[in-house]
Amino acid sequence: MKVVKRIDEVRAAVRQARQEGKRIGFVPTMGYLHEGHLSLIDRAREMTDYVVMSIFVNPLQFGPNEDYDRYPRDLERDERMARQRGVDLLFAPDVAEMYPEPIKTTVHVADLSAPLCGASRPGHFDGVATVVLKLFHIVQPDYAFFGLKDAQQVAVVSRMVRDLNVPVTIVPCPIVREADGLAMSSRNVYLSPEERRQATVLYESLQWAKEAVATGLRDWEALKRGVRERIAQKPLAEIDYVDVLAYPDLVPPRGVPGEQVLIAVAVRFGRTRLIDNALVTLE
Ligand code: PAJ
Repeated sequence: MKVVKRIDEVRAAVRQARQEGKRIGFVPTMGYLHEGHLSLIDRAREMTDYVVMSIFVNPLQFGPNEDYDRYPRDLERDERMARQRGVDLLFAPDVAEMYPEPIKTTVHVADLSAPLCGASRPGHFDGVATVVLKLFHIVQPDYAFFGLKDAQQVAVVSRMVRDLNVPVTIVPCPIVREADGLAMSSRNVYLSPEERRQATVLYESLQWAKEAVATGLRDWEALKRGVRERIAQKPLAEIDYVDVLAYPDLVPPRGVPGEQVLIAVAVRFGRTRLIDNALVTLE
């Protein structure tokens, strides 16, 4: 595995791989890797011949009172894990390489950026869309791999690619969970032992909701209420949002057969904000 910090080094390495006839796969991350990130590498290796991973904690997508400064970082450990899992090129730029001057051009994906995490994190998805488009222009991958853990991010990035004719195929990948159901996240390390125990309520309440929809519940307000009530049983859980929207358009579901419905939750435990979701296709 080659590790580079500069954009021109990425371009040179990818150009070479492409000259060798290789298909380029790309896995963008903010590092502090876990099995969720690594599953994206596995998928990329199945579908492509040269896997590029980026590790960059993107200041543009963090709000002023968010955890940019204390976001967990451990590049040495990440390098080991990426190398072991079969990444070919690791791009770990510093902020000055990605943003040498204050940025004046940003990407805004209307409507899709507004609900869910967009409502609690103003500007977040503009920051995501902007850095992802920059990274796509730097790496120029054929395929890019994103986890459905961040289902709204997948919707936003897919729409950006469609609207702006970016020549890349977005590959959504399933959520990887701990044995007790908690979705893997770099932020899980912030949780105290008691918070960690109570955090399984996100998955449990989503499992309940999936089952309720499977057995015919179509009253979305009742569904949200049921999820809220379950989460509220955990004393350390503070609900940010519980929502049910059609996927990937993120509008109120019509409840018609074949429609994909996203049940999404964000819950705070102390200073740690966790998100999780379930996607169900209506019968
Ligand atoms: P980050 O949170 O590091 O996540 C990188 C990728 O890993 C995303 O596609 C995310 O959905 C995926 N991922 C995280 N946890 C996962 C899990 N438990 N199962 C499956 N996939 C999981 O998302 C970002 O970084 C940033 O917004 C980024 C796209 C890199 C732009 O800065």
